Parts: sequence; C-alpha cells; structure tokens
Amino acid sequence: MKFDILTLFPELIKFYSNYSILKKAQKEKKIEIITYNFRDFTADKYRTVDDRPFGGGRGMILKIEPIFKTIASLKIPNSKFYSLIGKSNFQQSPKKTKIILFTPRGKKFTQKIAHQFSQLERLVLICGRYEGIDERVVKYIADEQISIGNYVLMGGELPALVVMEAVTRLLPGVIGKSEFLFKRISKTKGFIEHPQYTRPEIFEPLKTLTEIGFKLKRVKKNIKWRVPKILLSGNHQQIKKWREKHQKIII
Ligand code: ADE
Repeated sequence: MKFDILTLFPELIKFYSNYSILKKAQKEKKIEIITYNFRDFTADKYRTVDDRPFGGGRGMILKIEPIFKTIASLKIPNSKFYSLIGKSNFQQSPKKTKIILFTPRGKKFTQKIAHQFSQLERLVLICGRYEGIDERVVKYIADEQISIGNYVLMGGELPALVVMEAVTRLLPGVIGKSEFLFKRISKTKGFIEHPQYTRPEIFEPLKTLTEIGFKLKRVKKNIKWRVPKILLSGNHQQIKKWREKHQKIII
C-alpha cells in the first residue's frame, strides 16, 4: 500500500513514521510513505500557499493551485482526475486509489472506514492547514473528506498519521495474530475489546509512592489494587464468561 501525503510539514510525518509499526511496515515493504510539500509546487518568489478569502472574512485560505499541481504530478488515477485527463495517462485502476482531504467537516473516521481503506492500493492524504482550504479542492480533487473527531486541530498531519496507523495494522502480515488485541467480530463490523491485566497480581500504590520518595502522612491502611480473581483461576470457561461480560464493541 502506498501513502502519498501532501503537507506543509513533511518532517512531522517523517518523524512519527520512523517508529513502531509504520517503520516496521516500511522496512518490510508492506507500505511506502512519500511526503510532498506543496510549497514546492508554487511559482512565486515567496512560495505562497495561502491567500485571503473572497468575500472578506478573517484568516487565510489554502490555495488550490499548489495542491492541484502536486496531485497532477503524481498522475493519480482517481476518479476525478481520470475524467479530466483521460485513461491513457494512468496504468492503475482508478478504483484502487483514493484522495482524502482532512477537515473537521468530514465523515467521521471509524474502524470500518480503516478496513475499507486497507483494501486500496494507494491513499493520497491532503493535510489542510490554517483557517481553511479552497472549496474547489473538495469539489474537484478530493474523493472524500475525513474527520478524526469532533474537535478542531491546527491541521491534517495528526489525522493523516492516525489514518495511516489504523490502516497499516490491518494489512496482511503487518502484525502477528497474538498482537491483535481485539478479537474481530467480522471484517467490517467491529472488534471486541475486554479489560486486560498483567503482573503483579497485587499492586500496592502507597508502597510504591513511598519507594519513589513521597512522604505520606496519616495513611492508615495499606491499599491493594488487585487483579480480578477469576483471571487467576485458570478456569477458561469462567474467564471467557468474565471477558464477555466486560467486553466493549468498537465499531
Ligand atoms: N483538521 C482540523 N481538525 C481536524 C479533525 N478533527 N479531523 C480531521 N482534520 C482536521
């Protein structure tokens, strides 16, 4: 799977992608991540990527030109470009590529969407910045607008990393079966998650606080935080029941 990221801050993407699963998946050639600074696709002396909104108003709006030029240089066979420059310019099927624009206005990103994206060959992620982006990017370039939650961030870089990580871990062979924390209910429906514990069986927070230098006054009882007994019982049927009772379904 190939990820093309359009951003004004490629270093942010590169830094995070150089750790953990994204690093491993790149090393194993399961994914390829390429960043493009669309400032490199400006023609003026100041490398301008934004301008004031028509009709007035506060803030600056990202211009369509640098984004359009970056996307065009990739010769991406997505549905919108396909109709614009014709089949002969592309080798891949347009159905295997999607251009995503990150915006708080977009469709909410879910595990189900992560699964749908993981079936594609190429994802092009446009990271917005500043107060907004020329609406023609939405209308004529992006296939979908995605939001990662009901809050406003400063740009699409964190959302791009969120989407890349969620999609990459679903690609075949990227993580081992035992690393799949959540049992899959069905491919598209969701995952079951239940609480997990590991050693020690009994954790004594006050003892630990004393060990790291806290002077605790008037503490009478020693408090113990215990692992539920059932999980230590070795009774697999009971454990299964307990997990079912405490599970949550993540859609
Ligand atoms: N850009 C700013 N906020 C965002 C959000 N919540 N999701 C996606 N892109 C964004």
